[in-house]
Amino acid sequence: MAINIRQLHPHFVAEVDGVDLSRPLGAETIKTLNDAINRYSVLVFHGQSLDDDQLLALGRTFGSVAPPRNHRAGHRLQHAEIADISNLNVKNEVRARDDSRRLDSLGNQLWHSDASFRPISGALSMLHAHVVPPSGGDTLFADLRAAYDELDDETKELIEGLITEHSIFNSRGQLGHTDYTDAERAALPSVRHPLVRVHSGSKRKTLYMGSHASHIIGWPQPEGRLLLRDLMEHATQQRFVHAHKWQVGDLVLWDNRCTLHRGTRYNDAKYRRDLRRVTTQDMDSVQDNPELVAAS
Ligand code: OGA
Ligand code: MN
Repeated sequence: MAINIRQLHPHFVAEVDGVDLSRPLGAETIKTLNDAINRYSVLVFHGQSLDDDQLLALGRTFGSVAPPRNHRAGHRLQHAEIADISNLNVKNEVRARDDSRRLDSLGNQLWHSDASFRPISGALSMLHAHVVPPSGGDTLFADLRAAYDELDDETKELIEGLITEHSIFNSRGQLGHTDYTDAERAALPSVRHPLVRVHSGSKRKTLYMGSHASHIIGWPQPEGRLLLRDLMEHATQQRFVHAHKWQVGDLVLWDNRCTLHRGTRYNDAKYRRDLRRVTTQDMDSVQDNPELVAAS
């Protein structure tokens, strides 16, 4: 079956037909998909039926899959490498309102780039929908290469070479969720990444930031925070944003190196939402935090 690619947004995002992601992909298909990722950043596949083994195998086709953070509540899924993007607990019941895992995952509704708080940040994420709510719970994507292109020259000059500090506790703290132990905090120290990067697959410049990013190294805190807020406001204007409305069987693949994403609210007390994700490591980021990478 021929692969068909159709762009969904003026800047980025494409729908891909004619690929069964549950089976091993041939070299030619992988090349076609990698080219499409580099061009469109976000690929949407419909009608995909993958079990967790197949999702993990798909992730490994594109790189080294890093497991998500450990959570106190235990893991509902079999593979430690699969992120449980659901509102369900280990008993497969909807989580209680004050469940710490629920409060932690509400942070996914802030604009972010997966694993930007890690010494080796996230490259490609693949999120697959098993159960979706009847309304709400969309995922929004923002194009950081297009946002960079539209900055004025003065701003481009100002931000060139700046280094940003990222921490998971910054994004969670913004929502007032600070219920983490000293050991949990010590396990995830702050990391540094460049604010402007060259996206290796396209050689285009991109912003790199999100809610895990707190401030600019070497700048007074308020000044760095304000700059990041201004850039976030710029990059998440409607013209850079695409909304994905989930259907069961959708698999969305995105490039965390040049996009931001966030979930949107839904009635998580009433409806079940069960999505599962794998994320590959961005080997270009290994050099950002040499001491932390060496220690891990
Ligand atoms: C993710 C994520 C948002 C959503 O899976 O990384 O941020 O809509 N998901 O669930
Ligand atoms: Mn995410």
